[in-house]
Formats: sequence, C-alpha cells, structure tokens
Amino acid sequence: MKLAFVIIFPLCIIGVFTFLVMNDQGAQNELRQELSSTQRQAIEQLGPLVPDYMTIQSYRSNAEMMRSMDILFRAQCASCHAPLGTGQAGPNLCDEYYLIVDNIPDLYTSIADGSISKGMVPFRGILTDNELILMASYVANLRGSAKSGKVPEGKIIAPWPKK
Ligand code: HEC
Repeated sequence: MKLAFVIIFPLCIIGVFTFLVMNDQGAQNELRQELSSTQRQAIEQLGPLVPDYMTIQSYRSNAEMMRSMDILFRAQCASCHAPLGTGQAGPNLCDEYYLIVDNIPDLYTSIADGSISKGMVPFRGILTDNELILMASYVANLRGSAKSGKVPEGKIIAPWPKK
C-alpha cells in the first residue's frame, strides 16, 4: 500500500506538470503564429528593397504587406510592445513620443540594430532584410492608431509626411 503511494503520487505530479507545460506551449504557438510560405515568398519577390525613406513610406499603403507585418509583429514584437503596439516592457509605438526614433528611416535602424542595453533585440538576422523594411512601414502606421497605452516615453517628434 505504502509502495503504491510512493509510485502513484509522483506519477500524478509528473502527469499534471506535463499537462501544464504542453498546454502553455499550445497557447504560445497560437500567439506566435508566423507567416505562411506564400506570404514569405511574396515578401522576397519584391526584390532587394532599400531601407530608405521612399521605400519605407511607399509600403505603408500596401495592404497585403501590412497584413503580413501585422502577423509578424504579433509573433516577434508583441511580447514587449503588446499586440497592438501600445507598449508593455517596450515603449508605446502608437503615441507621439519616441525614445530613439526621429524620422522614418530611424524606424528601420531601431528595429534592425535594436538597443541591447535597454532590452530591445536587434532583429537583423532574425527577420529578412525585406521584412525589416516592411516592419518599419508597419510601425510608422502604428503611430496614432490607439488612443490609450503605456505612459509616454521620450520626446514628441515631427509628424510623418502624409502617405
Ligand atoms: C525583448 C523586448 C522587445 C522586443 C521583442 C521588441 N522590442 Fe522594440 N523596444 C524594446 C525596448 C525596451 C525599447 C526601448 C529602447 C531604448 O530605450 O533604447 C524598444 C524600442 C523600439 C523602437 C524605438 C521606439 C522609440 O521610442 O524610439 C521601435 C521602433 C521598436 N522597438 C520596434 C520593435 C519591433 C518592430 C519589434 C519586433 C520586430 C520589437 N520592437 C521587438 C523592447 C523590445
């Protein structure tokens, strides 16, 4: 009887633990839904994009690419900036205040180079070059997209030029 207890009790604990871990991973996979291969191909078929003002600004109105970046943002950035970009550990990307960004090309460099000492991962090498550029367009569009969010950090910068 005692022996059965010694064996069954730890097995139950392991069972519950395994269930919790698997369940949590399922939830995380759902959150981290990534791009389909068709979406990835469409991004790479744009050819080698240049991370300049003209390119980043022009893709802001490309609905198909911005939909793909929405998926990628939720998978790669939401853990720190929240799913809608309103900020958590990372700053609110929807308000008028910026810590390191002054203009549109800065969006690209801030994402590509990150800010390791402050806790922002450099995404060059994690995202493809085209994804980094399109993500800059997506983040430009986040500005003004939400009324509330994390308290402002940094300084107010000049409005983006019209799309
Ligand atoms: C591990 C947490 C983390 C992740 C993941 C993360 N960021 Fe950040 N991000 C930060 C922090 C912290 C800062 C503030 C950096 C600083 O103060 O220099 C920041 C800053 C930024 C800035 C500059 C904002 C400003 O106020 O000037 C942009 C743009 C940005 N992140 C975009 C992104 C994008 C796009 C992704 C996903 C591809 C991403 N971040 C993923 C934590 C993160």
